[in-house]
Amino acid sequence: MEKIVVSGQQKLSGEVAISGAKNAVLPIIVATLLTEDQCTLYDVPHLADVQTISEVLQSLGAGVNYHGHTMVTDGAGVSKTEAPYEYVQKMRASVLIMGPLLARFGKVNLSMPGGCAIGTRPIDLHLKGLELLGATIHIDEDGVHAESDGRLKGNDIFLRVPSVGATENLMMAASLAEGRTRIENAAEEPEIVDLANMLNAMGADIRGAGTSMIRINGVPCLHGAAHTIIPDRIEAGSYLLAGAITKSRIKVTNCIAEHLRPVLDKIIESGAEVIVNEEAMTVEVIGGEHILPVDIKTMPYPGFPTDMQSQFMAYMCMAEGASHFTETIFENRFMHVDELRKMGANIQIDGKNAFVNGVPALYGADVKATDLRAGAALLIAALAAQGETTIGQLHHLDRGYEDLIGKFRQLGAKIQRVEM
Ligand code: UD1
Repeated sequence: MEKIVVSGQQKLSGEVAISGAKNAVLPIIVATLLTEDQCTLYDVPHLADVQTISEVLQSLGAGVNYHGHTMVTDGAGVSKTEAPYEYVQKMRASVLIMGPLLARFGKVNLSMPGGCAIGTRPIDLHLKGLELLGATIHIDEDGVHAESDGRLKGNDIFLRVPSVGATENLMMAASLAEGRTRIENAAEEPEIVDLANMLNAMGADIRGAGTSMIRINGVPCLHGAAHTIIPDRIEAGSYLLAGAITKSRIKVTNCIAEHLRPVLDKIIESGAEVIVNEEAMTVEVIGGEHILPVDIKTMPYPGFPTDMQSQFMAYMCMAEGASHFTETIFENRFMHVDELRKMGANIQIDGKNAFVNGVPALYGADVKATDLRAGAALLIAALAAQGETTIGQLHHLDRGYEDLIGKFRQLGAKIQRVEM
């Protein structure tokens, strides 16, 4: 079994280039199913999730050619409308194939989605939205089966919560529907805007992406397009926190600071200095001598992202005082807490609240990455801890951080991946 071994308390320095965003590239790869033409995607990160979604496309009959960071997809050969169980179980984002396949072929079958074990993560909003667009949906023990009699029909859809995945699925489906769709209380995340930009480049007519009301005028067909994926704001935030917790000065490049605003504000509040150069697309952090406690409440964008909650908690474990975390997006997203405690952290959980009392030092321990962002949190803690930390269950980290070891080594971290 492979593990990461980190020798803590090394100062970091230098620069690290941020990769294309996992949460943008997955729906955009899926969106290429909407056309029979070729699409070219640039800045596609090397991640296990990208591999999985590519295999899903190939299993449907699409061509996927991936060299360096460029991916060329070919939707001409798509002949199947059923996602194999093995992939859907592996990755929740597989549910996104529903919108495009239903819109282009009038039917889709899907085993119930798996992915990270964070909360119950229902897909009711995806399904209700597709029904409002005219699909008939039937659920049995094999999964979800959706059909439409002819083209989908545009409609007004109100989302009970601004779900990222549901907004994406419905935006894709509505692009090829007949007439106008309005998605109200839509998610506003930058990844939604990136998907809308790709769809519009393919010939869709989508306005208002990035606000809570998205308007889509359906078109009869979409064509091929080329698109560059936005940088990963969560990866960037994770490196900045690694710099802050080790009281180092590091710079992330290929970063859109605007997308990180709520995270940067909290890093500044914690006593670190943040230098943004919008033009150069860089953000530099200079860790403060004293880490001040900061309260965090996760919210849909532009609030503090749930995907940064565990990393920020790792940082706050070493703050001089008490901080309070409220997780409002997912249940069961405190799985990192038990592992951080093994390193000497003082954290109490009460429902969706976590209370962190900063400690003067964390200590190396044998821990496991219980999910993707929990893995990043443990790594951040390990960089600041006294002694050696080993992190297991690396398949979670491989899902979302490109060249993690290489990038941290470049910053001067003592980190290696070993067979144990
Ligand atoms: C996406 C991100 C994930 C991030 C999350 C929230 C991808 C591939 N993943 O996940 O990294 O943590 O956004 O920013 O982009 N919900 C329902 N019914 C639904 C759908 C969602 O109740 O049909 C609820 C969920 O249980 C959760 C909330 O809505 O409480 C937000 O989930 P959602 O925004 O859909 O997350 P994902 O798109 O799965």
